[in-house]
Amino acid sequence: MSSVPEPKASPPYAEEGVPPIIADPRSLRSLLRALRRTVRERLEGLDGEEIAAFLRRFDRYAPDVCWLAGTLYGERDDFTRHLEAIFTTAAEAYRARSPELKALDARREADPGWYQHHTMVGGVCYADLFAGTLKGVQERIPYFKELGLTYLHLMPLFRTPEGPNDGGYAVSSYREVNPRLGTMDDLRNLSAALRAEGISLVLDFVFNHTASDHEWALRARAGDPHYQQYYYMFDDRSIPDAYEKTLREIFPEEHQGAFTFFEEIGKWVWTTFHTYQWDLNYSNPAVFRQMLEEMLFLANVGAEVLRLDAVAFVWKQMGTPCENLPQAHTIIRAFNALVRIAAPALIFKSEAIVHPDDVVRYFGVGRWAGRECEISYNPLLMVELWEALATRHTHLLTYSMQHRFEIPPACAWVNYVRSHDDIGWGFADEDAEEVGIHGFHHRQFLNRFYTGQEEGSFAVGYPFQFNPKNLDMRISGTTASLAGLEKALAEDNPQAIELAIRRIVLIYSVVMSIGGIPLIYLGDEIGQLNDYGYRDDPGKASDSRWVHRPPMDWERAARRHDPATIPGRIFRSLSRLIEVRKQQPAFGAATRTEILSTGNPHLFAYLKAADPSRVLIVCNFSEEDQDIPFDRLPAFPPDPCHDLVTGRTVEASKGATLGPYEFLWLSLPGEA
Ligand code: GLC
Repeated sequence: MSSVPEPKASPPYAEEGVPPIIADPRSLRSLLRALRRTVRERLEGLDGEEIAAFLRRFDRYAPDVCWLAGTLYGERDDFTRHLEAIFTTAAEAYRARSPELKALDARREADPGWYQHHTMVGGVCYADLFAGTLKGVQERIPYFKELGLTYLHLMPLFRTPEGPNDGGYAVSSYREVNPRLGTMDDLRNLSAALRAEGISLVLDFVFNHTASDHEWALRARAGDPHYQQYYYMFDDRSIPDAYEKTLREIFPEEHQGAFTFFEEIGKWVWTTFHTYQWDLNYSNPAVFRQMLEEMLFLANVGAEVLRLDAVAFVWKQMGTPCENLPQAHTIIRAFNALVRIAAPALIFKSEAIVHPDDVVRYFGVGRWAGRECEISYNPLLMVELWEALATRHTHLLTYSMQHRFEIPPACAWVNYVRSHDDIGWGFADEDAEEVGIHGFHHRQFLNRFYTGQEEGSFAVGYPFQFNPKNLDMRISGTTASLAGLEKALAEDNPQAIELAIRRIVLIYSVVMSIGGIPLIYLGDEIGQLNDYGYRDDPGKASDSRWVHRPPMDWERAARRHDPATIPGRIFRSLSRLIEVRKQQPAFGAATRTEILSTGNPHLFAYLKAADPSRVLIVCNFSEEDQDIPFDRLPAFPPDPCHDLVTGRTVEASKGATLGPYEFLWLSLPGEA
């Protein structure tokens, strides 16, 4: 027998399944009146304007919350009690929110598309690896400013178990900073200092699971039935076996299947990722409410973006893959609506590394478009940039972006070339087939290519999570090492070094200009190579992703202004791209991106148009010179026109050639 009720195999958990109390307009109105009274009481003592702001937002979003929560929990007898608890949590969090953050709420409400601006530029780093501590990060603000960052994602920085903790993604407490990094007050100070410089703090919200030593897990282990219901725990293998029939293995090198047996409690616990990461049970409304409280706590610390970690996994249902279920979307929409009420300066970033059809759904669809996650990683662009570099062909990149780049108008992609995670070849097989590529074989090729086993490979990368059952594998390696710099340096080959630098700048040029928030994995701007030191650390040795998480090399960074050095060349090039991006409204996320067919298999081209400015971007993904087929492009540039980055003059009527890995950002007159 399991200690949690088995999730229902079929609706009523579908969207339509709202209970009568919500579906009937009259009873909904009276429920909302009662809830409004409850929250009003909780706000007693705040000043009148603050109360009015909250209630205005309550009136706007509370019906959505009721509806969404109703589809998840409306069948329960105690549903309205849970709903009341949820709104009480929101009101109390608002009460605790600082005046400064409430002022930010007002500014963001007046400029709701702030994250779509062309001035946005993101950076991501581990606090310890980048600067030792949170105070150290604060001291580096001038570096962020020099680069032009307006968004800083600090990798998980909360208390974790001693020993392996998945780079912080096993959270022992959402309320405590890892003592090695500092304190919660340090984090508050840092967020305020960043904010004062126009940099938004991005934190992870690891909400699919807690560490196995989180207080709730400890209580569950001690036998407390209340907390056992926070997780998925089973006395024998019957239910786990039934679930596993339809589950994917996520970390097969670490453990097979999705469950781990814990001797001391005699139970199988759902552990999608590592054995020390226990999946939370969102079919229990107490978990939803509790995690709302943790989330709003982080909002009140000053996070302006929460990266919703592993979003795809948060709802489980027997007989399904337990990924991307409709209820996962419902949970995020409900959280989002509550955030709009209690901390509207906060937005969500989706981390869904799943099929591209599913990735885009986390922006929300239909009436929820733009009301689920406002921004999302763009893993497809990332993998297809690497795919194009390996093949020197842009068919797949062009085809996929033509069909998949568009998103709801209020949203933005977060475009990146590298993250702290592995690269998994998550393009759609359907897209590949359209351009004559066999998905499975192509993935095998890319894996060989990026682990240096393919003729002509320039990359030094490593396997991650090889699964012998299906030959699935992902790739670890820094941008510079995957782009050829490590190999070229080892071979002392100046020509190869040149090409590697050009590859790095080329793929960064795309993320800077294609539309969305460009995100730099800090260290990339100075071309940091793979770091093999992790192999000596028992807490990290089994996870090859650490190879691309090197400590920031500040000595290398000190050479960033010297154009005769490699870090200097890369830093200067990326800084220039950022500078130009910030001058070009056309590069904003809300501006349409038209991906062009050039007829040349090595070129990738697109048009960004925000009247009155238009920019035609053409990139050469090969080592050979390529002529630009201006005749085939919808926008024929007038003579002469200029590359915004280098100032190069182009006379399109006479033709133009792109050198190896070269690109142009041609400024065109606006459409008449
Ligand atoms: C996300 C993180 C990854 C982590 C996993 C489990 O995918 O990016 O680093 O291992 O979630 O939390």
